[in-house]
Amino acid sequence: MTVQPAIVVEHLDVTRGRNEVLQDLSLTIPRGEITGLLGPSGSGKTTLLRCLVGLQVMRAGEVTVLGLVAGTPELRRRIGYVTQAPAVYSDITVADNLDYFSQILDAGPGAVARVLHEVDMERHRDRLVGTLSGGERARVSLATALLHSPELLVLDEPTVGLDPSLRDQLWTMFHELAESGVTIVVSSHVMDEAERCDSLILLREGRVLAHATLAELRERTGASNAEGAFLALVRTGPE
Ligand SMILES: Nc1ncnc2c1ncn2[C@@H]1O[C@H](COP(=O)(O)OP(=O)(O)OP(=O)(O)O)[C@@H](O)[C@H]1O
Ligand SMILES: [Mg+2]
Repeated sequence: MTVQPAIVVEHLDVTRGRNEVLQDLSLTIPRGEITGLLGPSGSGKTTLLRCLVGLQVMRAGEVTVLGLVAGTPELRRRIGYVTQAPAVYSDITVADNLDYFSQILDAGPGAVARVLHEVDMERHRDRLVGTLSGGERARVSLATALLHSPELLVLDEPTVGLDPSLRDQLWTMFHELAESGVTIVVSSHVMDEAERCDSLILLREGRVLAHATLAELRERTGASNAEGAFLALVRTGPE
């Protein structure tokens, strides 16, 4: 039995306003791995992630997620999406936020306690979200996406603005989730996070510059890290 990929994108074109944001973009993402989507600000990372979760109007192309056309209602229960800006209510407590999203997602009993433990926020459960630090708020946002135990987790710059130890903590958690079979697509413009991913998609001006492991990128370009590889590929053109 061949394992179906988690995501197949074929000849995707997206225009936002007057900008051609994604151009003839094709890629395949396997299941159970962490795929990093790296690229400078404005390269189209958020737009591509929005296509995966079915929130983006597409001009042309096809996006298949977990074997279904992106945007199929059934997928909502199978995907967890963490937006770039934390989408939680600041005027209610951590636990009340999670209870609220748990009801919307019909996540079942025990889900709130489980995710509070997973993101290590049990001791803050009764705090108003508005009084939390940026990193704590990011973890609450992540917790909301874990409530329904999704098969695919789409994370838009989840570690931006976090200190190194918190970033480390989150990455440990992403690896634990991936080991349990969850597919993770995570965007970042911090190229040093590349080392934490199983494979990398380098995006530039709405096109895939490369889709490979970090080791392959190093070999191909002679660079020692993702940033160097990116710059080398900008000079030599896409694969
Ligand atoms: N609603 C919109 N209308 C017009 N242009 C838009 C809109 N949203 C995004 N864009 C443009 O599309 C391009 C890609 O934006 P996108 O948010 O996908 O980039 P990104 O890679 O996620 O950047 P960042 O790292 O800053 O989050 C940018 O040039 C942006 O200005
Ligand atoms: Mg973005």
